[in-house]
Formats: sequence, C-alpha cells, structure tokens
Amino acid sequence: PRPILLTRHGESRDNVRGRIGGDTALSDAGELYAKKLSTFVEKRLKPERAASIWTSTLQRTILTASPIVGFPKIQWRALDEINAGVCDGMTYEEIKKNMPEEYESRKKDKLRYRYPRGESYLDVIQRLEPVIIELERQRAPVVVISHQAVLRALYAYFADRPLKEIPHIEVPLHTIIEIQMGVTGVQEKRYKLMD
Ligand code: F6P
Repeated sequence: PRPILLTRHGESRDNVRGRIGGDTALSDAGELYAKKLSTFVEKRLKPERAASIWTSTLQRTILTASPIVGFPKIQWRALDEINAGVCDGMTYEEIKKNMPEEYESRKKDKLRYRYPRGESYLDVIQRLEPVIIELERQRAPVVVISHQAVLRALYAYFADRPLKEIPHIEVPLHTIIEIQMGVTGVQEKRYKLMD
C-alpha cells in the first residue's frame, strides 16, 4: 500500500524567534533538516516513480522540499498555515499582552476561535477538503510538507481523531509521520530525523 508522509517544514527563522505566521526562510537547523529529509525521501521512495511532493505556497515549505530531486512538486494554497490575521508575525507573549481578550478566547475554544481577519481551525479543516480528496485519489506515495495547524487537521483525518483534539495534537518539527492505509486500517510510523 502507498504511504503518505507528513512533515512540517524545517525550522524557520520565525520559529526561532517564536513568531507565528510570516513567510521567513529556514534557520541553519531547518536547512539541515531539508537535507536529511531529501536523503530519507529519495531512499524511501526510490522505487516509487510516480510519487509526488506537495508543499504550501510559503517559502519555508518550498525551501524544505528544494533538496529533493527526481519527483514532481506541487504547491497548494490550501496547505498554507492557519492565517493568524491581525496577529500574524506576533509572539504568543505579545498577543497575551496587547490583545488579552483575543488570547483568552483562543485559549477557551481553540478549535472555533477565529483570528480577527484570519482563520480558525474549523476554517482550516474546511479548506483542506479538496486536498484530502486528492490525497485519497492518489495511487502513488505523497510527501506533504506543510505547517503545524494544517498537519494537525490532516493527521486527525487519517488517524480518525476527534475534532476537539485537533488543535492540541503534537506535530513536532523535524519528524516524519508515515501513514499507511491498508485493509485493516491505518498504520503509523514516526521518524525523528533530528533533535
Ligand atoms: O509557530 C508555528 C506555527 O506554525 C504558527 O505559524 C501558527 O500560527 C501556529 O504554529 C499554529 O499552532 P497553534 O494553533 O498551536 O498556535
């Protein structure tokens, strides 16, 4: 059966500074992950000539995919990170200090909370529908390089996790989650490529 490989982009410069959203390039550690990921993917998928690499339209996923050669790459806007609206580029500390009501409402209901002029987890889940349909249609393996909130939603779909858990699922950096869909259900393996 064909695997689906889910991974976040390599650590970004904004990750290092604790800033959400944005469109920064990779840190040194992030670049190292991109190299390790390409070695892993090329080995794991070599015999699977029809495999493809899907990224978001944000630099950090495109740069993470860039060392991988030999497979077609497709950019999806639907794989972009949750839009934090007016909070884009802020740290959680700054949001707490400057917009305490927003901070509290998100804490109370992270699934339904929508950033002003941005998105909620429910919005993200909804926009992922065409991606999920296309993923299910694929006969060949797919490597999805995306972002924390988006991967929580995708993972929850395949691992059949309840809606309310989605915003809290652990999707660490520099880790590949391999999902295999077989007749007996879904199997999962995690590969941590870096600390
Ligand atoms: O911090 C990285 C990041 O991908 C941000 O860009 C995004 O806003 C956040 O994670 C999503 O995670 P959470 O919903 O826990 O804030």
